[in-house]
Amino acid sequence: MPSAANYLGSAAYWTERVRSEGEGDEQGFDWLLPSDNTGFKSFISDAVKDAATRTAATPRVLHLGPGSSRLSLWMHDLVDDPRHVVHFDFAESAKELGERWERECWPEAAERRMRWMTGDLLELPSVLSISQRLESTERAEGGEVSSPILFDVLVDKGTLDAISCVEALAPQGDLVERIKTFAPDMPAKLIKEPIYSSLMVALNLATISRPGAAWVMLSYGGTRFDAFAARVRSETPRSLEELASRLWRLEVRRELEEDAKEITDENGVTSKTKAYHWLYLLRRTDVPF
Ligand SMILES: C[S@@+](CC[C@H](N)C(=O)[O-])C[C@H]1O[C@@H](n2cnc3c(N)ncnc32)[C@H](O)[C@@H]1O
Repeated sequence: MPSAANYLGSAAYWTERVRSEGEGDEQGFDWLLPSDNTGFKSFISDAVKDAATRTAATPRVLHLGPGSSRLSLWMHDLVDDPRHVVHFDFAESAKELGERWERECWPEAAERRMRWMTGDLLELPSVLSISQRLESTERAEGGEVSSPILFDVLVDKGTLDAISCVEALAPQGDLVERIKTFAPDMPAKLIKEPIYSSLMVALNLATISRPGAAWVMLSYGGTRFDAFAARVRSETPRSLEELASRLWRLEVRRELEEDAKEITDENGVTSKTKAYHWLYLLRRTDVPF
């Protein structure tokens, strides 16, 4: 678990923060860019359209850390069936706020609502439970469920950025077992070494992502996932980063163009500034994990 000193790794911190963001005028709060930013929204829609060509069913979308962003509500109509959209956040208040907003916007849609769940992206059992909980709910609703439920598109606006600030963690329990099964020749010492928290999330999410799934991300950082672009050479992965690079491939990393803003200084001189926001698309390979 992250150290108690690192508040960004604390569910209690996020629960309180998201609760206060949802108060007042109830517009919520957006990290990085407003939720109506067309550049990021079309990046997401394109990934969903592409996913629809890869599966006969309605694509399944997982929103990582919705917080109090209204992007969640826009996602209601992203696919034919809102029940195929899952919002997953550390903060209980994100779930409460999202569920309330959705009821207010679609008061008649009782049986076709998006799913709102809480849990920790850094914990494999928590991530696996997204799929398991969904399966039980859909069975209880009388649906035909093919197990395990896997996601086609993962959406992340600023969440991995926040998680990246959490100190490095060593894989534990179920994740260690999975790594051993995947790479039996990998030395135990390497498996138990602390890794970047973003890498931990990538390993965990690989377990519930369909081969070919897209993880679309808006980030303030332009240097993420270099390792995922590298060509893999060795038979046995020599690090957990190399292992993760077999599960995810970096397909897109580009700056969001419409991010240029005009500012006028005290002398009346107008210039354009560029904020540093980046779009990423990671593609899940067909390597099982
Ligand atoms: C930087 S905010 C981004 C919120 C929203 N996506 C936006 O664009 O405004 C990060 C969100 O991720 C959630 N979060 C942080 N760490 C998490 C974790 N380990 N597992 C699940 N959610 C987490 C927080 O509760 C928060 O809602």
